[in-house]
Amino acid sequence: MNPHPDPASFRAAAARFPTGVTVVASIDRDGTPVGMTANSFTTVSTKPPTVLVSVMRGRTWQAIMDSKRYAVNVLHAEDLALCAHFSGRPQAESSPSLVNREEFPVLSQAIAQFACDVVRSIDVADHTLFIGEVRWCRQRDGSPLAFYSSRFCNGLGMTIEPAEAVAYPADGWAI
Ligand SMILES: Cc1cc2nc3c(=O)[nH]c(=O)nc-3n(C[C@H](O)[C@H](O)[C@H](O)COP(=O)(O)O)c2cc1C
Repeated sequence: MNPHPDPASFRAAAARFPTGVTVVASIDRDGTPVGMTANSFTTVSTKPPTVLVSVMRGRTWQAIMDSKRYAVNVLHAEDLALCAHFSGRPQAESSPSLVNREEFPVLSQAIAQFACDVVRSIDVADHTLFIGEVRWCRQRDGSPLAFYSSRFCNGLGMTIEPAEAVAYPADGWAI
């Protein structure tokens, strides 16, 4: 069996990969919207539009397993309280913020929303990868909340080069 890095080394290296921060939300069996902060969100394909999120077993996991659908809400830099609320530190002012839009639970403050039907789920270690086909999505301008090196940052930063300069195909996999 191959050796593994110790958990601290793995976490430190993984923290060098900057991500946005999302709230992944679903509807539980009682019809209650539930959500959790997640930075494992990624796009998978554009044809058809497909995303994935890696979810540890818990309340939101159970709701996604039951309903076979979820919404991904990309957080604005000013919404750190929502990030805390949905990662297990409930903030009273954030509680009512998930609203139903076209049968998916969304945060109106989000700078992007993706409504997804689960097309595949893959158990890996203590997580499940939920692969979702995007039924609809919306976006608005705004600075994203970013997570890097165990810090939350205002994710807009300085543009170094527009993406076209890196020459990926305009209609290819990249977003
Ligand atoms: C920045 C950040 C990113 C996180 N990303 C994930 C993730 O991708 N997957 C996951 O399972 N938990 C992630 N978590 C932890 C969950 O948000 C947390 O365990 C939450 O309470 C789970 O909710 P639930 O199990 O009650 O639905 C993250 C937490 C933070 C603060």
